[in-house]
Amino acid sequence: MDDYLCAAWEAARLAGALIRDNWRRTKRVEHKSAIDLVTATDRESERLIVGHLAKKFPGHSILAEEETSIVFPGAAHRWIVDPLDGTTNFAHSFPHFAVSIALEREGEMIVGLVYDPLREEGFSALAGRGAFLNNQPIGVSKVNELDKALLATGFPYDHRENPDYYLKYFRAFMRRSQGIRRAGSAALDLCYVACGRLDGFWELKLKPWDTAAGSLVVREAGGAVGDFAGGGFSIMGEETLASNGSIHGEMVRVLAEARNGA
Ligand code: IPD
Ligand code: CA
Ligand code: CA
Repeated sequence: MDDYLCAAWEAARLAGALIRDNWRRTKRVEHKSAIDLVTATDRESERLIVGHLAKKFPGHSILAEEETSIVFPGAAHRWIVDPLDGTTNFAHSFPHFAVSIALEREGEMIVGLVYDPLREEGFSALAGRGAFLNNQPIGVSKVNELDKALLATGFPYDHRENPDYYLKYFRAFMRRSQGIRRAGSAALDLCYVACGRLDGFWELKLKPWDTAAGSLVVREAGGAVGDFAGGGFSIMGEETLASNGSIHGEMVRVLAEARNGA
């Protein structure tokens, strides 16, 4: 597994250098939908990461957000890559974005790396071996009441069409938590839960590349990741709820109340 993590670090550093070189410059922005953006840097970052991983592990499948779906039928390994998580931030030169690289073996996440190129912070995890920030062990916070918790969330790209659907959860947590951040990178939100900067995070309709690495980092840091009902987590699922574990039950109750219109 260490070789895989090393390769992920190499790929993340290549992509990170590209992102650092470009984040202050004027961007060529294309629209995948009204507010879902993609820049030349997203695509170039993906080419660098996928090129590096495909060269090192020619038999592995790779799923990446923008243009890569390499499927080797029967391959045990699949890399899942978000070449730039926080594209809206990047497009506006708002300094908060990351590269996310995960490796799945037989459907189980075994390696996760989320790299913030501006802060030069790499959050990593190996299944069963803990979570790290720049190779130093990390763990979740000890906050055990929602009343004292700092939370984060995000909104999917259909938020213009369905604002109230997302705001009912936001409103419920506004009433109960100490504060809520919407920083714009789900991968970093998850890692911030893992290292105790945040106590909980919820979001709907995230994609596998948003959560594959970060969910492993949270679990390996001692936190909990699941759906809104307190059930298990799937990178293919609609709901992501991550927390330090201690406030998980309370967050599940608030989500249920919000869903039921309480
Ligand atoms: C987005 C970010 C954002 C989240 C969106 C994601 P992208 O990813 O993670 O924080 O709220 O749901 O799609 O498009 O910047 O890679
Ligand atoms: Ca993303
Ligand atoms: Ca992305």
